[in-house]
Amino acid sequence: MNTQGLVNLAKTLVATEKGLLAIDESNPTCNKRFAKLGIPQTEEARRAYRELIVTTPGLGESISGVILYDETIRQRKTDGTPFVKVILDAGIIPGIKVDVGATGMAAHPGEKITEGLDGLRDRLADYARMGARFAKWRAVIAIEDDIPSRGCIEANVHALARYAALCQEAGLVPIVEPEVLMDGAHSLERCFAVTEQVLRAVFDQLYTQRVVLEWMILKPNMVLPGLTSATQAGVEETADATVRCLLQAVPAAVAGIAFLSGGQSAELASARLNAMNVTFRSRAPWALAFSFGRAIQQPALEIWSGHEANIEAAQQALQHRAKCNRAARRGEYDAAMEGGA
Ligand code: 13P
Repeated sequence: MNTQGLVNLAKTLVATEKGLLAIDESNPTCNKRFAKLGIPQTEEARRAYRELIVTTPGLGESISGVILYDETIRQRKTDGTPFVKVILDAGIIPGIKVDVGATGMAAHPGEKITEGLDGLRDRLADYARMGARFAKWRAVIAIEDDIPSRGCIEANVHALARYAALCQEAGLVPIVEPEVLMDGAHSLERCFAVTEQVLRAVFDQLYTQRVVLEWMILKPNMVLPGLTSATQAGVEETADATVRCLLQAVPAAVAGIAFLSGGQSAELASARLNAMNVTFRSRAPWALAFSFGRAIQQPALEIWSGHEANIEAAQQALQHRAKCNRAARRGEYDAAMEGGA
């Protein structure tokens, strides 16, 4: 294995001002979002939407890597060009989601375990042949009064670490995503405590499974109060809590941090990422980057709504969000940027 290659690849994914764009929604998730907007839930509609995204002019100025889904990595533009080639030609690195989803965990009501380890070694080799250079696996941790349980955390972080070790064996950079969900009425402090507990467990298992931290990227949630919490927090407060939490639990050797957006509004995700970089950019041991799905795509999806006539306007909206997040990485995002959206 070319070890320097993996170090360089991991660093490139979070280099300077860029970040990742997740377009790896599974078919059921993509269909659900299409259904809300009256878009047909067909393979062709999903292909057309992903073509709109990967052909957005100037995307490579703000986006370092795109995370694809099993169906998408095999798809082509209308003119027959494979998406992987379109992405590479834009100066962007293709990646692939390799978990097969989260399912209810036995004996753990309300909790989920992410599946996909069986046969993963062979699937990683296939994806590498198709052009993927990095991979993603998402674990989901819910907060309620009596969860997360130790059993749920342990099972999920064990799977994450085994996935990450297999990726590195295959020459792919693993993105390790333990997502503590925003749903619920919990406080900012509770999200901090659970996120810290989960991250400590993640790195304990990564160490046990001999994962090289310099060859991986962590994709964490931001530390936020629950969506229905009566006490919401200001942008600076959440940014501060998020980075303080990471500093407690994430070793400096990790190549970079790329946050998920998790259902925050696009503007809030940019503002919070910006605030983190304003305060910590020069002090944190890792890059504070983004790996947003909804916070980059959602406005574009709503504008497109399945109509060819809206493609250009949707691409402009996508490019705008990518640029806002690029500015946020520099600590130069301003809500005034939204005026021209
Ligand atoms: P969101 O930014 O929409 O949370 O998506 C990121 C992602 O890749 C979830 O796995």
